[in-house]
Amino acid sequence: MRNFISVKDVNDINVLTAKALAYKANPLVDKKLGADKRIGLLFLNPSLRTRLSTQVAAQQLGLEVTVFNVDKDGWALEFEDGAIMSGNTVEHVKDAAPILGRYFDILCIRAFPSLTNKADDYSEEVMNSFIKYAGVPIVSLESATLHPLQSLTDIITIKETFTEERKPKIVLTWAPHIKALPQCVPNSFSEWINAWGEADFVITHPEDYELDEKYTKGATITQNQDEALKDADFVYVKNWSTYTDYGRIYTNDPAWMLANKKLTVTNNAKIMHCLPVRRNVELSDEVLDSANSIVTKQAANRVWAAQAVLSEILKTK
Ligand code: CP
Repeated sequence: MRNFISVKDVNDINVLTAKALAYKANPLVDKKLGADKRIGLLFLNPSLRTRLSTQVAAQQLGLEVTVFNVDKDGWALEFEDGAIMSGNTVEHVKDAAPILGRYFDILCIRAFPSLTNKADDYSEEVMNSFIKYAGVPIVSLESATLHPLQSLTDIITIKETFTEERKPKIVLTWAPHIKALPQCVPNSFSEWINAWGEADFVITHPEDYELDEKYTKGATITQNQDEALKDADFVYVKNWSTYTDYGRIYTNDPAWMLANKKLTVTNNAKIMHCLPVRRNVELSDEVLDSANSIVTKQAANRVWAAQAVLSEILKTK
């Protein structure tokens, strides 16, 4: 594996998840793999889980880790080719990325979308610029459109939890939120579940919240949440802003927030969310605090997903 930007960088999802679960059973088995190598974690946006789980994963592989909050401590980066830099940006990625590529053996980057310019966001300018100019492997810690480490974690968690000899029914449901959020997590989750191909996959959302069909094609899509939830084994809860009329909130209908009553039609479904979650806006206390919630296990599994990916990259280098 050279870069880890999307599911397209993965040869076999089941092999990668098995590797992650092997690390979970034996975290330090490859503690010398990253010896004398350095990894830089660059954050253009906040993070709790991604930042710390990737740091722990890298340390367990023996890598020396540097975390750099580009948004707070670095120069404001310019990404536009040919830009006349007379505004707020101070340093072009063309200049910064090759330097970072000399300091580090692997670079990991978190850069959220603007949610104001769909073409720019969906061109993945930030991630692609680092791939173009850094000269070292690039790992996405969540980009403008995708969150692949989260999605790998999600499949690891589903495989670990579901032991029946049949395909699980997985429902991705939109939930209300007070802010316009990116489509990264639902795009990525859809892309990975479709590529995995070992689930009956249903997406439910209100009118006008369609995601880019590049990611959702293959899933059953419905605006009837109650219908979607029937017989679900897993319910993945997430808000996203509109994709077609980009980055907007059309509704905050609290009827879309899951409460235990709605879940009675499921197959005793396990509840997932990537976190952070706004309690009693996006997901009710009673669901989050129930025995069916696996959000903590899911977040804890971020370490093993990151460790499997970094290990693949180190073994390729
Ligand atoms: N799920 C996730 O990416 O969490 P953080 O934003 O805290 O990293």
